[in-house]
Amino acid sequence: MSTHEMHLKAVNAYNTAYAKYSKFRVGASVLCGDQVFSGCNIENASYGATVCAERVAIWKAVSELGPDTKVNKICLVTKDGDVPCGLCLQVMAEFIISPEAEVFLCTEHEVKKVLQFKQLMPFRFEF
Ligand code: THU
Repeated sequence: MSTHEMHLKAVNAYNTAYAKYSKFRVGASVLCGDQVFSGCNIENASYGATVCAERVAIWKAVSELGPDTKVNKICLVTKDGDVPCGLCLQVMAEFIISPEAEVFLCTEHEVKKVLQFKQLMPFRFEF
Protein backbone atom coordinates (compact mmCIF):
# COMPACT_ATOMS: atom_id res chain seq x y z
CA MET A 1 0.00 0.00 0.00
CA SER A 2 1.59 3.26 -1.11
CA THR A 3 1.77 6.46 0.91
CA HIS A 4 -0.44 8.00 -1.75
CA GLU A 5 -3.19 5.42 -1.12
CA MET A 6 -2.93 5.83 2.64
CA HIS A 7 -3.16 9.58 2.20
CA LEU A 8 -6.28 9.20 0.02
CA LYS A 9 -7.97 7.09 2.71
CA ALA A 10 -7.05 9.59 5.43
CA VAL A 11 -8.36 12.48 3.31
CA ASN A 12 -11.64 10.61 2.80
CA ALA A 13 -11.89 10.16 6.57
CA TYR A 14 -11.00 13.85 7.10
CA ASN A 15 -13.98 14.70 4.92
CA THR A 16 -16.31 12.58 7.07
CA ALA A 17 -15.21 14.09 10.42
CA TYR A 18 -17.97 14.98 12.86
CA ALA A 19 -16.37 18.11 14.31
CA LYS A 20 -19.52 20.03 15.12
CA TYR A 21 -18.07 21.75 18.21
CA SER A 22 -14.38 22.41 17.55
CA LYS A 23 -14.65 22.60 13.74
CA PHE A 24 -11.21 20.93 13.77
CA ARG A 25 -11.37 17.98 11.40
CA VAL A 26 -8.96 15.06 11.59
CA GLY A 27 -8.60 12.02 9.35
CA ALA A 28 -6.36 9.03 10.02
CA SER A 29 -5.41 5.83 8.27
CA VAL A 30 -3.42 2.92 9.65
CA LEU A 31 -1.72 0.20 7.61
CA CYS A 32 -1.92 -3.28 9.15
CA GLY A 33 -0.29 -5.89 6.92
CA ASP A 34 -1.86 -5.19 3.56
CA GLN A 35 -5.08 -3.68 4.93
CA VAL A 36 -5.83 -0.05 5.64
CA PHE A 37 -8.32 1.16 8.24
CA SER A 38 -9.37 4.77 8.45
CA GLY A 39 -11.05 6.93 11.05
CA CYS A 40 -12.23 10.48 11.66
CA ASN A 41 -12.76 12.43 14.85
CA ILE A 42 -16.29 12.15 16.20
CA GLU A 43 -17.33 14.82 18.66
CA ASN A 44 -20.15 14.85 21.17
CA ALA A 45 -22.22 17.46 23.01
CA SER A 46 -20.77 15.87 26.14
CA TYR A 47 -17.25 16.90 25.11
CA GLY A 48 -15.44 14.12 26.99
CA ALA A 49 -17.22 11.54 24.85
CA THR A 50 -15.37 12.82 21.76
CA VAL A 51 -12.99 10.37 20.10
CA CYS A 52 -9.94 11.24 18.03
CA ALA A 53 -9.48 10.05 14.45
CA GLU A 54 -6.37 8.00 15.27
CA ARG A 55 -8.15 6.01 17.94
CA VAL A 56 -11.19 5.38 15.72
CA ALA A 57 -8.87 4.00 13.00
CA ILE A 58 -6.89 1.82 15.45
CA TRP A 59 -9.99 0.54 17.17
CA LYS A 60 -11.57 -0.35 13.83
CA ALA A 61 -8.40 -2.30 12.96
CA VAL A 62 -8.20 -4.14 16.29
CA SER A 63 -11.89 -4.93 16.33
CA GLU A 64 -11.60 -6.48 12.85
CA LEU A 65 -8.20 -8.16 13.09
CA GLY A 66 -8.00 -9.13 16.73
CA PRO A 67 -5.61 -8.66 19.64
CA ASP A 68 -2.41 -9.36 17.64
CA THR A 69 -2.99 -6.33 15.39
CA LYS A 70 0.22 -4.54 14.42
CA VAL A 71 0.21 -1.09 12.85
CA ASN A 72 2.95 -0.66 10.24
CA LYS A 73 2.35 2.97 9.26
CA ILE A 74 0.07 5.83 10.21
CA CYS A 75 -1.14 8.73 8.10
CA LEU A 76 -2.82 11.79 9.59
CA VAL A 77 -4.62 14.63 7.87
CA THR A 78 -5.44 17.97 9.46
CA LYS A 79 -5.72 21.48 8.03
CA ASP A 80 -2.05 22.21 8.73
CA GLY A 81 -0.43 18.79 9.14
CA ASP A 82 -0.45 18.68 12.94
CA VAL A 83 1.01 16.09 15.35
CA PRO A 84 -1.25 13.63 17.23
CA CYS A 85 -2.37 14.26 20.80
CA GLY A 86 -0.64 12.52 23.71
CA LEU A 87 -3.57 10.23 24.38
CA CYS A 88 -3.49 8.93 20.80
CA LEU A 89 0.30 8.48 20.99
CA GLN A 90 -0.22 6.21 24.00
CA VAL A 91 -2.81 4.19 22.05
CA MET A 92 -0.53 4.02 18.99
CA ALA A 93 2.34 2.84 21.23
CA GLU A 94 0.26 -0.19 22.18
CA PHE A 95 -0.12 -1.43 18.58
CA ILE A 96 2.72 0.09 16.54
CA ILE A 97 4.97 -2.56 14.98
CA SER A 98 8.20 -0.79 16.00
CA PRO A 99 9.48 2.53 17.33
CA GLU A 100 10.87 3.17 13.83
CA ALA A 101 7.45 2.93 12.15
CA GLU A 102 6.66 5.96 10.02
CA VAL A 103 4.01 8.54 10.80
CA PHE A 104 2.97 10.82 7.92
CA LEU A 105 1.69 14.23 8.94
CA CYS A 106 -0.33 15.69 6.11
CA THR A 107 -2.68 18.34 4.90
CA GLU A 108 -5.42 17.49 2.43
CA HIS A 109 -3.01 18.21 -0.39
CA GLU A 110 0.44 17.03 0.70
CA VAL A 111 2.59 15.10 3.13
CA LYS A 112 4.15 17.84 5.29
CA LYS A 113 6.40 15.69 7.46
CA VAL A 114 7.44 12.06 7.90
CA LEU A 115 8.54 11.11 11.42
CA GLN A 116 9.41 7.86 13.11
CA PHE A 117 7.03 7.02 15.92
CA LYS A 118 9.86 7.27 18.47
CA GLN A 119 10.45 10.92 17.52
CA LEU A 120 6.89 11.70 18.59
CA MET A 121 7.05 9.49 21.67
CA PRO A 122 10.55 8.56 22.85
CA PHE A 123 9.27 7.05 26.10
CA ARG A 124 5.98 5.47 26.97
CA PHE A 125 4.07 4.08 29.89
CA GLU A 126 4.08 0.27 30.01
CA PHE A 127 3.68 -2.41 32.61
N1 THU B 1 -8.34 15.33 17.63
C1 THU B 1 -8.03 14.21 16.90
O1 THU B 1 -8.88 13.65 16.22
N2 THU B 1 -6.77 13.74 16.98
C2 THU B 1 -5.75 14.30 17.70
O2 THU B 1 -4.66 13.77 17.75
C3 THU B 1 -6.00 15.56 18.39
C4 THU B 1 -7.39 16.02 18.47
C5 THU B 1 -9.70 15.86 17.55
C6 THU B 1 -10.50 15.72 18.81
C7 THU B 1 -11.48 16.87 18.66
O3 THU B 1 -12.58 16.41 17.88
C8 THU B 1 -10.75 17.92 17.85
O4 THU B 1 -9.66 17.23 17.26
C9 THU B 1 -10.24 19.08 18.66
O5 THU B 1 -9.52 18.67 19.75
